[in-house]
Amino acid sequence: MYIYIDTGNIDEIKKAAATGLINGVTTNPTLIAKEGKDFPTVIKSIVKILKDAGIRDDFTVSAEVNSTTAPEMIKEGLGYAKWDKHVIVKLPMTTEGLVAAQEFARRGIRTNVTLCFSPNQALLAAKANAFIISPFVGRIDDTGGDGMALIKEIKQIYANYGYKTKVLVASVRSPSHVREAALAGADIATIPYKVFEQLIGHPLTDKGLAQFAKDYADYKTKITGVKPTK
Ligand code: E4P
Repeated sequence: MYIYIDTGNIDEIKKAAATGLINGVTTNPTLIAKEGKDFPTVIKSIVKILKDAGIRDDFTVSAEVNSTTAPEMIKEGLGYAKWDKHVIVKLPMTTEGLVAAQEFARRGIRTNVTLCFSPNQALLAAKANAFIISPFVGRIDDTGGDGMALIKEIKQIYANYGYKTKVLVASVRSPSHVREAALAGADIATIPYKVFEQLIGHPLTDKGLAQFAKDYADYKTKITGVKPTK
């Protein structure tokens, strides 16, 4: 499963990219607004960070349109696509967004259809040749629904018809969401940096390391007769 980082924060992206474990970045207007920086500059910087970190060349950086009609979205997205081949156009899950997705596909430009909350929306995004569909599991869970059940249904529908659209688990809130996404066979999970850090750590790993360090220090003391200074 590919892991994307869901942020517009440059420091977080640098740290995540330095691990070599990520495959891309997603942004949205809220995340961009939070950073208070120039949008094109942020997206171009993200691409550069991933390239400089040697991230595999199939990485993508999603940049979301801010217009509502298909012609406007197409104009906006064509501008984004010129920034770099890794930039893909994030479109809303609306009729206009799906019209725009088809035009981008005709032009060979990849898209990420966002704010998906139902299997039928995902079906239509695949029919519109979206490169990625982004179902928001956390927001579904927040309202008492079952976000991961949606992922499983979309995977089934895509398998039934051989759709190539990638299923990206979005609105991730915890490591459990990442585990469940991987078990459900999601193609990608986009996760906040904090959750990414949580994936790596485990209390038993820390405990085990402390024990190993102690045992090795004791052993060294025993065979050399010299006590470690700290
Ligand atoms: C996906 O691309 C979105 O940016 C994101 O996952 C939204 O998550 P949220 O529900 O935490 O805002």
